[in-house]
Amino acid sequence: VLRAGVFDSGVGGLTVVKSLLEHKLFGEIIYYGDTARVPYGPKDKNTIIRYSLEALEFFKNFDIDILITACNTVSAYAIEELRAQADFPVVGVIEPGVLALINKIESRDANILVIGTKATTNSQKYERLLNQHGYHHITSLATGLFVPVVEEGIYNGEIIKSIMHHYFHKLQTPDAIILGCTHFPLVSEAINRYYEEAVLIHSGESIVEYLESELDLKKDAFKETELKLFATESPENLKKVATLWL
Ligand code: DGL
Repeated sequence: VLRAGVFDSGVGGLTVVKSLLEHKLFGEIIYYGDTARVPYGPKDKNTIIRYSLEALEFFKNFDIDILITACNTVSAYAIEELRAQADFPVVGVIEPGVLALINKIESRDANILVIGTKATTNSQKYERLLNQHGYHHITSLATGLFVPVVEEGIYNGEIIKSIMHHYFHKLQTPDAIILGCTHFPLVSEAINRYYEEAVLIHSGESIVEYLESELDLKKDAFKETELKLFATESPENLKKVATLWL
């Protein structure tokens, strides 16, 4: 059975799991959320690398075939270190996100907005990759306030509207928005109401496209995917969120 590890800083990576489950690419998914130490977004690079390598130790107890870092912050800062230490492939969400954008937005003059945590924004990883592919009108914005609000179960309404206004009101209207954080797909409908014309790029959908096209994994390869959930704190809360989101 094809077994994937999915690593996230907390519960947010379940948005990526949702896409993986819909496509039934794996027979089993081992999810590890570092709920005791979330959020990673405001932390510095060395801390994020240290936490990520600790997560890797956890996955070494399982016979996984591939590790997916659902967390954009981990994908931004720790992917090389994880790859250097792992004896299975490690796939982040940033490269798949950029490839998904390339597939959807042909014009290199498009205005692209990248939203993520402070760490993801500071890493400039999305910009560098987008630049390499010829996109140069990029605005990167740390929009971390969405994270605790989504964790509170709030996906629309006045609070989300205020947060969007706070972050977006001075920006040029984007043609595409990369949702560079696990939590943002849950507010994608609200964002789409704010920017009706913008194409939204979602990490979960992007990684599925990537696994299918680059790693040749097959949709519906398994009848169902068994999901095993682990958390460094309050696993019962992770299970509750999983029931709600999945
Ligand atoms: N999972 C993180 C990400 O995708 C968001 C939450 C956090 O800051 O840890 O960047």
